Amino acid sequence: MSATESSASTTSMLQENRLFPPPAEFAKDAHISSLEQYEQLHQRSIDEPEAFWAEVAEGLHWFKKWEKVLDWDLPDAKWFVGGQTNLAYNCLDRQIDDGLGDKVALVFEGELVDDNGQPEVVKYTYAELKREVCRFANVLKAQGVRKGDVVTIYMGMIPQLAIAMLACARIGAPHAIIFGGFSAQAICDRVEDGKSKIVVTADGSWRRGKPVPLKKNVDDALEMTKLVEKVIVYQRCKNDVTMKDGRDQWWHDLEKDASDDCPAEPMDSEDLAFILYTSGSTGKPKGIMHTTGGYLVHTTMTSKYTFDLKPDDPDEMYWCTADIGWITGHSYIVYGILPNRVPTLMYEGGPNFPAEDRFWDIIERHKVTKFYTAPTAIRTFMKWGDEHIDKHDLSSLKLLGTVGEPINPEAWMWYREKIGGNRCPIVDTWWQTETGGHMLTPMPGATPTTPGSCCRPMLGIDAAVVNSEGEEVGTNEGGILVIRKPWPSMLRGIYGDRQRFIETYWEKVPGMYCPADGARKDENGNFWITGRIDDVILVAGHNIGTMEVESALVSHDSVAEAAVVGFPHEVKGNGVAAYVILRVPMPAPGSDDAKALQKELIQHVGKELGPVAKPDQVRLTEALPKTRSGKIMRRLLRDIAAGNDITSDTSTLEDRTIVDKLVAQGG
Ligand code: PRX
Repeated sequence: MSATESSASTTSMLQENRLFPPPAEFAKDAHISSLEQYEQLHQRSIDEPEAFWAEVAEGLHWFKKWEKVLDWDLPDAKWFVGGQTNLAYNCLDRQIDDGLGDKVALVFEGELVDDNGQPEVVKYTYAELKREVCRFANVLKAQGVRKGDVVTIYMGMIPQLAIAMLACARIGAPHAIIFGGFSAQAICDRVEDGKSKIVVTADGSWRRGKPVPLKKNVDDALEMTKLVEKVIVYQRCKNDVTMKDGRDQWWHDLEKDASDDCPAEPMDSEDLAFILYTSGSTGKPKGIMHTTGGYLVHTTMTSKYTFDLKPDDPDEMYWCTADIGWITGHSYIVYGILPNRVPTLMYEGGPNFPAEDRFWDIIERHKVTKFYTAPTAIRTFMKWGDEHIDKHDLSSLKLLGTVGEPINPEAWMWYREKIGGNRCPIVDTWWQTETGGHMLTPMPGATPTTPGSCCRPMLGIDAAVVNSEGEEVGTNEGGILVIRKPWPSMLRGIYGDRQRFIETYWEKVPGMYCPADGARKDENGNFWITGRIDDVILVAGHNIGTMEVESALVSHDSVAEAAVVGFPHEVKGNGVAAYVILRVPMPAPGSDDAKALQKELIQHVGKELGPVAKPDQVRLTEALPKTRSGKIMRRLLRDIAAGNDITSDTSTLEDRTIVDKLVAQGG
């Protein structure tokens, strides 16, 4: 199926034209306070990109100023060429240099609560955070980590995760952070891909009252690879762990004698800052590479405008609920927020511990002003019921954001009314691991918003909806979303795979960056994302590659072949459905044996890839619906999983009875 076919089939279904102007009260003091101002700024940023981005970059700290803003040789961009800077310096020292060392930089809340219902809260000023970062940077150095060495970090959402990443940035060692929900196999694959010799982890991390066995997962991963020589373990939960002699060391032991002075390494703008893995449409995750200068400039600028951050407002308190293991946490908990001089809040655990009002409790206690979360979370809260919200005072909130997947208008309206009290603008931000920072989003004080639309291009971003020849399509016509000009925080490649970088992003629409999302643009110039046009399923905002799940299933002894598709899911946006052909005799559909095997296969995928990738449905089948030329008809599999009537053309099917059997068998 071609890209345009697929996206066109998902467009024109939604008729949504409610338009909400930015709240006047908010617009009054916003950095960008009218649509005209946004349009002028945006036009200028497109007409004179180098002048625009240079002005933004000048607001940051450079050890050495760049000689050239952009060197563009498609698909290779070099930004702020010849300049030298450091991410950690801009997150910490720059504030201290300007007399803000005692201002709160990071607020941490642990998951557990004491007998009085009080959680652990730790606040770090810029000076305190810098001290911790320097100490750990010195630990890394003492362990032999040098500029350019890839450090794998696998931790929960505790301050030491931010400290470890900033310590890496400080000494110029690119980090590769692995989401704490991933499994041993995923850790092993990423360590090998990044050729990383050191892992920073914790004994555990609290999640719904129990420790996630992080160290145990690392141990299991390191059974499968010989690459890692050193493991540093932060003690968080005091759960039982085994420490391997000569390999594993406690963070607190190593830090005992570490100095709290460690100068930030001047990094070339284009030095690798980090690798972050994301799923693609083939089995192997892609190590997305981000470099230093452009990433810093783009994330700092977008944080400022999208969240309308106000460093001079003593009440400003920003909270992004993402995990730092994803790009949202990299860019909008740490690297883009700290340079903006507003406190960033980090929460360790689950949204329903000890009760389903935990998020609202956090907002009330910390008086959060800017709140950034995912549509899947919003849909979950809707399901849990308004009573959890009604008992909290959410009047501190000024702005709401969403990220990770399309938000359905019903959830958007609920978010606006119940959480935002109808007074907070909503910024629905479209972007990707690859883009590093926001690409399409309303400007909260300027853009009239429509539920479900991520609205307009960010300053400096030239976005369009095109056909596969790269020609712009008409208003409300479905097409492929593209970015036509380079931007500072764009990915610089896929680690160790130049060819895949070119094929994945630069060949679908020649000459333009193709994010593999379908889109349309409405009569107001607002963009609507209509869904992925590759084999990636967005499950609760996480990218799940269908091939990855298929490979995980086939690695089970009983499985001969598997086909995986997405289907609409009320809370998660999409669910994962797996059709499985067995090597062993197929148990009767619905029998206890069949159920036990289905459960086992779900667990197996969880073990191979991590809980986020677990299929919601496993259907055992003797065959898959294939065309006469042997291609699996995934469209039919999607319809069956969704419980839709099979009305589409099945004339090219080799054997229609397979479809009838699958339908009769049920989910
Ligand atoms: O399909 C788009 C969807 O998430 C993809 C990127 O996923 P990832 O790299 O994990 O980054 C997620 C956090 C930035 C996109 O290609 N997506 C992300 N944000 C939105 C979205 N789809 C619709 N609306 C959004 N606001």
